[in-house]
Amino acid sequence: MSVSKLVFAPLSYTGWGSLKELLPEVEKYDPKKILVVTDPMLAQIGLTDRVTDPLETEGYSVTLYTDVVPEPPLETGEKLVSFTRNGQFDMVIGVGGGSALDLAKLAAVLAVHEGPAVDYLNLTGTKNVEKKGLPKILIPTTSGTGSEVTNISVLSLETTKDVVTHDYLLADVAIVDPELTVSVPAKVTAATGIDALTHAVEAYISVNASPTTDGLALQAIRLIGRSLRKAVEDGSDKQARIDMSNGSYLAGLAFFNAGVAGVHALAYPLGGQFHISHGESNAVLLPYVMGYIRKSCAKRMADILNALGGNSTYLSEEEASYKCVEELERLVKDVGIPSTLAGFDIPASALESLTQDGVKQKRILARSPLPLLEDDIRQIYQSAFVGAVAEPK
Ligand SMILES: [Fe+2]
Repeated sequence: MSVSKLVFAPLSYTGWGSLKELLPEVEKYDPKKILVVTDPMLAQIGLTDRVTDPLETEGYSVTLYTDVVPEPPLETGEKLVSFTRNGQFDMVIGVGGGSALDLAKLAAVLAVHEGPAVDYLNLTGTKNVEKKGLPKILIPTTSGTGSEVTNISVLSLETTKDVVTHDYLLADVAIVDPELTVSVPAKVTAATGIDALTHAVEAYISVNASPTTDGLALQAIRLIGRSLRKAVEDGSDKQARIDMSNGSYLAGLAFFNAGVAGVHALAYPLGGQFHISHGESNAVLLPYVMGYIRKSCAKRMADILNALGGNSTYLSEEEASYKCVEELERLVKDVGIPSTLAGFDIPASALESLTQDGVKQKRILARSPLPLLEDDIRQIYQSAFVGAVAEPK
């Protein structure tokens, strides 16, 4: 029997209308100056007002910070950290997609540390996070990244990504209100939704999976499997938005504890070298990575097939695992995401640089049930270029 360390930290509110819990939660901390970190688009369409208006009405001093970009570069993080230190804030609220939430966590923690954010990067930094930082409340407006329940802040470097990670980056409160996701465009719903699905699938096949994370992951796959297409087709479909919100939250809890694996490892270089969004990078690789490793986790792939609404009753594990890959492929296609790397205009000549960057993701690759070495990684990328699932030689 193995021992699992499980962290389900943030006090969370989920469900339609759960944003109403924000004010009572803020009151508990009695902040003097609140910093709200949010995407500029959300401020523009007035969604952020739904967070700031009730606070301002109650007399809180609220400062809006909107210098947030997708897949935020390190410099974006540095600027926000300086701004937070100079502003003497005593609470940070993140409102938005994964980028806004990741930046909010980073700012809240590094506000009480010294030196630039680069010093605290996981791979190349020289300093450790030592203090909890300012209280932080995270409010996702997309159903995908799970950032509201993880302890990681991802930052983009020149051609790769690095993270600041520590349990002090965990939110004090997460408010996961599907009502806030209704205005998310179809393309973003699709990409973030497949990211959430990938979190659940990879947590389920991870070598660090446990009975607890299995339960979370399978329920996430069920909810996302039955509602992602609907949420993409009709963003106003309330039940679909509720399912996606809960699915994304459960997938976040699952992967924070069990980890992600090969899909995420090989997706990072696509973001780093070609600026493909995190969700789309995962989506385009999902069938190819799962197809490559399926024999190492066939029984689990059969479970995933069933959770996606398929039926493995009359199939061998081998057949069910194959069908699971087909089902994943179909889902990615149905939500309108290109199914090959060529579909993202990535030249075939990039095979080697992608492979070399993929190999570097050792920490994530270590969770794959099938060890993925350099040749395997090259074969998987190659299969994603030609659009035909490959198997280990
Ligand atoms: Fe992800």
